[in-house]
Amino acid sequence: MGQARSAATRVAMISGANRGIGLAIARQLHQQGYALSLGIRRPEAFDVAEAFGTVENIDVFAYEATEKQAGQLWLEASLDRFGRLDVLVNSAGILRKVSLADGLESDLDAMMEVNVKGPFRLIQAALPMLRQSGRGRVVNIASLSGKRVRNDNVGYQMSKFALMALSHAVRAAAWDDGVRALALCPGFVKTDMALGASSLSPEAMTSPEDLARLVGLIVDLPNTASISELLVNCSYEVML
Ligand SMILES: NC(=O)c1ccc[n+]([C@@H]2O[C@H](COP(=O)([O-])OP(=O)(O)OC[C@H]3O[C@@H](n4cnc5c(N)ncnc54)[C@H](OP(=O)(O)O)[C@@H]3O)[C@@H](O)[C@H]2O)c1
Repeated sequence: MGQARSAATRVAMISGANRGIGLAIARQLHQQGYALSLGIRRPEAFDVAEAFGTVENIDVFAYEATEKQAGQLWLEASLDRFGRLDVLVNSAGILRKVSLADGLESDLDAMMEVNVKGPFRLIQAALPMLRQSGRGRVVNIASLSGKRVRNDNVGYQMSKFALMALSHAVRAAAWDDGVRALALCPGFVKTDMALGASSLSPEAMTSPEDLARLVGLIVDLPNTASISELLVNCSYEVML
């Protein structure tokens, strides 16, 4: 498996890559020639050949965001397999409803754990290798809920605002070593998550493939063309 990869092939680690936005980004980056290290909760249940039409330069690894060591272990296994790291995409995420009027603190904890601390641990683990790349990229799938407070789900918003801070922290910490971080901020995207949470029709939502095309473009831009935040909406909002 993956014998055709040359030492120069760029490698992307993508969490939440078995479905939704993560899978669309994985497919896009694979088309662009990246080798893929996919972080998935149940790798044994994921059929790479079915999802990608090939298994070449693609491998799956266990990644459960709530386990503290999961990021480090995935990184180590990925380096054993591919030998380098150029792009880290944090797409694994959850949506629970937590308002000020109503909501369980355990749901807030769960969102902070998966949406913020998972990416934090992965970035901490991966940053040395991303610095070594010289053109390291971090893509955090945040949300327009990380840019404004539009509905009463303050729990989800808190987790996404925190992810925005993390994304900007990467830029500050590793800019001089060529690492560039993007916080991608979509509105409703046609995935299981939004289909369960919005009354918009699926056709009215942004497609994961369109987001993936944007990510594919941005990670390949040179270090001198960095986009820190990208706001992508499927419907009109003042200034967004
Ligand atoms: N869809 C939207 O409208 C929208 C808008 C803005 C931002 N986002 C953000 O985009 C990201 C991707 O969302 P999506 O729309 O692709 O959602 P999705 O279709 O529900 O997929 C969520 C992904 O996250 C994984 N995941 C969930 N909990 C996990 C955990 N504890 N450990 C590891 N992986 C876990 C899921 O794995 P399993 O299959 O094992 O559950 C799945 O791969 C999320 O961060 C989300 O907040 C989504």
